[in-house]
Amino acid sequence: MRALITGAGGLVATALVQHFHDVLALKHAALDISNKAAVDEGVTRLSPDVIINCAVIGVDDCERDPARAQRINVDGPGYLADAAEGIGAAIVHFSSNYVFDGKPVKRDPYTIQDEAHPINVYGRTKLLGEHAVTAASTRAFIIRTSWIYGPGKENFLGTVAAKLKRGEPVQAIGDTWASTTYVADLAHRVREIIDRKTFGTYHVVNDGVCSQESFARCAAELAGVPPEVADRLIEVVSEASMGREAPRPPWTPMRCLLSGQIGLAPLRSWEQALAVYVATH
Ligand SMILES: NC(=O)c1ccc[n+]([C@@H]2O[C@H](COP(=O)([O-])OP(=O)(O)OC[C@H]3O[C@@H](n4cnc5c(N)ncnc54)[C@H](OP(=O)(O)O)[C@@H]3O)[C@@H](O)[C@H]2O)c1
Repeated sequence: MRALITGAGGLVATALVQHFHDVLALKHAALDISNKAAVDEGVTRLSPDVIINCAVIGVDDCERDPARAQRINVDGPGYLADAAEGIGAAIVHFSSNYVFDGKPVKRDPYTIQDEAHPINVYGRTKLLGEHAVTAASTRAFIIRTSWIYGPGKENFLGTVAAKLKRGEPVQAIGDTWASTTYVADLAHRVREIIDRKTFGTYHVVNDGVCSQESFARCAAELAGVPPEVADRLIEVVSEASMGREAPRPPWTPMRCLLSGQIGLAPLRSWEQALAVYVATH
């Protein structure tokens, strides 16, 4: 199977590359997915069996520039799906827990039977991107995932254990909860899903629910930081106090219905995945 990965400079793409023998990984500079002519030419020339789109712009960038969000999160995925369909290839497109509004807090984890109702530009464009892909392709895997961490990305989840181990203070949001996803687990599961050839919408996350605060406390314990030191280093803050451009939905844990139907068990718990990450990075 030949895979073409777009947006290949990012976190998810970097982990995915290792799961394919025959893989063409194009970074932003090599293929701008919002350029339809370039997408058509590249896909036709490279003739992959599956296109895996990892290109995206971030949550607050979307809020600052909705037109760019539309081009990268909606139009580009549509062009890729259209080009894939033209050569009989499948497409994998990633979406997000932020398609949900996250209310009420402590409701059951979201499944694909729950109505999407995004509250920020990122979530709205991710949902429209899903629609653009499924409208153009009869061979689409939509993978909704959530709060991803892994090596090489400077986000809270990926860096908190190392910071606490070095004795650095961190601010951890305590009033927003979701599923987290270790990127190695995500990449492995995406390959399993592609191989099973059941198209549809998947929720791929580690099992369980956490906040940045509970994640940080667990990371501290796994990194061997004594509880009284962790208490001093972890400053619990509210989402509102962060002053970020885009509002975040407060409660977006997810659960997969389709994985169970094709014989794939839920991914290991977030605590187990974090333990592996902390022990190996
Ligand atoms: N990270 C998370 O916590 C999370 C959570 C839920 C869902 N997801 C989804 O997972 C997927 C992958 O996310 P990620 O975290 O791996 O993203 P990432 O690390 O931010 O990487 C995104 C990549 O897309 C590239 N890109 C931006 N505009 C492009 C364009 N027009 N054409 C081609 N490439 C372009 C970027 O390159 P430049 O930097 O050079 O522009 C960057 O290398 C996305 O669909 C995202 O919505 C992520």
